[in-house]
Amino acid sequence: MAKIKHIISADQFDPLVLEKIFEEAEKIRKTEEGSLDTLLENKSIALLFWEPSTRTFLSFYNAILKLGGLPIPILNAGKFSSAIKGESLKDTIRSAADLKVDGIIMRHNQEGSAKIASDTMDRYAPKIPVINAGDGKGEHPTQMLLDIYTIWRAKKEELKEGKLTGALVGDLQDSRVLHSDVKALIKYKTRLILISEKGNNLPKEILEEMERKKIDYIKTDDIKKFAPGIDFWIFTRLQTERRGAYLMERKEGIHTQLQRKFNQRFGITESLISKMKNDAIILHPLPRVGEIPEWVDKDERAIYLARKENAESQVTNGLYLRMALLKMIFRKTKTQAGW
Ligand code: CP
Repeated sequence: MAKIKHIISADQFDPLVLEKIFEEAEKIRKTEEGSLDTLLENKSIALLFWEPSTRTFLSFYNAILKLGGLPIPILNAGKFSSAIKGESLKDTIRSAADLKVDGIIMRHNQEGSAKIASDTMDRYAPKIPVINAGDGKGEHPTQMLLDIYTIWRAKKEELKEGKLTGALVGDLQDSRVLHSDVKALIKYKTRLILISEKGNNLPKEILEEMERKKIDYIKTDDIKKFAPGIDFWIFTRLQTERRGAYLMERKEGIHTQLQRKFNQRFGITESLISKMKNDAIILHPLPRVGEIPEWVDKDERAIYLARKENAESQVTNGLYLRMALLKMIFRKTKTQAGW
């Protein structure tokens, strides 16, 4: 099994490694929920976030705390780090290394930025891991881990045997979550229904990989057509920030109209939900901005957020999964042996 230090791309994970991470997350869920572990004692981990976040930031922050470590957050790093004065990403990363942080978790607006950061660490401070918490429209590998973990928890055997059909809905072109999710689902030979506007496609290299691996997939703009055969749904919002602005920065502008139209075509309606399988699961990396109306939350198939206390929640899975990931990265001997 390959050694993993930095977490940059979903490409790094095969089903065997994923299984180990998921089992670790299950152990944490069952035996250590809410309790502190000392693995990260005396370790400080910088959370450098150039882009906004609710879940990724909070879950990593809380995971570090629960493992006894110290998170050092820089939010809005484009403004509140010396990047605003023109500092390069490489110098920011080298400075964090010189200041003896033990790890970096970063979210950046530029695709490829996490790789630049990990290459920089490899050159100047090779023991310090970099975790990609989202790099522009590139990838979001830890969201992939929690998404696949959520599917694994609901449909483990079918996932492992390549018997699942999954719908990936929305912004195939710009959703870094879907890019990472597809890379993993290819390895499970999951049948994929790609639902988006004509012309909104997955990046060319991912489509080529699907062809090479002979993945059974269909691209359609008809959200209802294949609904009765779909085992899991991953909805996404329109990534308006990749088209010029965050939605809430332009309240009644072109972006709002685009989002509304998008939601009508690629969101959940009563008619769609009535066609879904009874045992389907509905995921969304969140934030949602109308693609999944709140009335859907009561449906047992909706597991993006907990329907009630202690009900299955993709968001909670993100906490356990990220704790498991940190444990596996910082438990040096195991990591060096190759998980
Ligand atoms: N899913 C996800 O990345 O959410 P945040 O942007 O809130 O971190």
